[in-house]
Amino acid sequence: MFMNLLALYKRSTVNVFKAHGLVQASIADSVTESFSAIRTVRSFSGEKRQMSEFARQVLKYESSGIKLGTFKSLNESVTRVAVYISLMALYCLGGSKVKAGELSVGIMASFIGYTFTLTFAVQGLVNTFGDLRAALAATERINSVLSDAEIDEALAFSLEKDMKQKKVHDEVLELYLVNGSNEKKQSTKTRYMSTLKFGSSVRNLAETGDICLEDVDFSYPVRPDVEILRGLNLTLKCGTVTALVGPSGAGKSTVVQLLSRFYEPTRGRITVAGEDLRTFDKSQWARVVSIVNQEPVLFSVSVGENIAYALPDEYVSKEDVIKAAKAANAHEFIISMPQGYDTLVGERGGLLSGGQRQRIAIARALLKNAPVLVLDEATSALDTVSERLVQEALDHLMKGRTTLVIAHRLSTVQNADQIALCADGKIAELGTHLELLERKGLYASLVDTQRLAFE
Ligand SMILES: Nc1ncnc2c1ncn2[C@@H]1O[C@H](COP(=O)(O)OP(=O)(O)O)[C@@H](O)[C@H]1O
Ligand SMILES: [Mg+2]
Repeated sequence: MFMNLLALYKRSTVNVFKAHGLVQASIADSVTESFSAIRTVRSFSGEKRQMSEFARQVLKYESSGIKLGTFKSLNESVTRVAVYISLMALYCLGGSKVKAGELSVGIMASFIGYTFTLTFAVQGLVNTFGDLRAALAATERINSVLSDAEIDEALAFSLEKDMKQKKVHDEVLELYLVNGSNEKKQSTKTRYMSTLKFGSSVRNLAETGDICLEDVDFSYPVRPDVEILRGLNLTLKCGTVTALVGPSGAGKSTVVQLLSRFYEPTRGRITVAGEDLRTFDKSQWARVVSIVNQEPVLFSVSVGENIAYALPDEYVSKEDVIKAAKAANAHEFIISMPQGYDTLVGERGGLLSGGQRQRIAIARALLKNAPVLVLDEATSALDTVSERLVQEALDHLMKGRTTLVIAHRLSTVQNADQIALCADGKIAELGTHLELLERKGLYASLVDTQRLAFE
């Protein structure tokens, strides 16, 4: 009966072990997801949201750890008490048999010896198996991380620079807190106020002013000797659509990276309404720019939460999410799924098709309602049916925003207000579709080759 009780007890602890393991895995997942989607996180300035999510997981880990610890120690003590009670029974029973002369002392002694050995061996084995199971699970995770480690050194470099800058900033704050001298208090105060004022005006500037890339040179920090952009000039007129075309590798996506401030120009500057972007806080700027690219990154939460990530620090009502989804041609397919807006999209949105992921990304961008919009090959990876649906959604999204479109298929950019052709790190041709065709330059020949390819 005692053994039965023990077995029942052990079975009930299995769940505690499992829960702890799961929480541990979800901490790792949350970190992996944040870092593998770091560009998306930064482009929505969702750092705070990701950090608080991580903290939430850690707290969960703490409480499940305490539970597990309690269970483990209870388990250990019950097991030990059981072992010693059985030993005691053995002594009493054996002793009485020896006394009655039914058993020799030698046999009794070796019996006790064997029992001890067996008990410790079994206990050791059980413990080792437990450790082994944990170690194997950990190894598996390490391997899975190592096997698809795609480290973007360039981004890591600029992130590190950011962190260093932030640290200096905090030291100032710390000094101010420790010394508390009046003079310092004053200067810090005004500095913080001026940053705040700037923050709220970035949006106004972006809503009313042009964005200019002025004489921009750029090389990626990992390859400083390779100049990707050389004296690039381009103006994105407020509220109009500019298309950026050119051969692949010309630096179009690099322009997007600069506009979203994942990197800063090596020389020259980018301005909005004449103000250098570098005077604004990066996360304030992130709120002003929406990026939709070829492979939008979704988080492994529900469809609705993915759309609401547009405003990571705010409460977003379900109506707003639905409104955005409708405008993005996504509502229909979302409600046809078993759990509607609560359907989980799987790791990196893997349970959805490319076109569906794209429309969710567009809904997210619509909800973000940023005045500047960048579309980098947003429809390139889609088949014609989903391309049409996504294109409709995009047309909706572009209305009234300063837009930069990069598209592989030139047929999709013909209606842009201006088309810029990027080659050799600068803008080689600029004008409307018809103007550029008349020029019979590189754009005209690109259009010709594509026409041939489609006929
Ligand atoms: N993160 C990066 N680090 C280093 N070099 C890069 C990076 N991204 C792109 N490049 C290089 O910059 C050049 C321009 O790339 P890209 O801007 O992606 O071209 P496009 O979008 O026009 O096809 C390419 O030669 C590419 O190898
Ligand atoms: Mg590109």
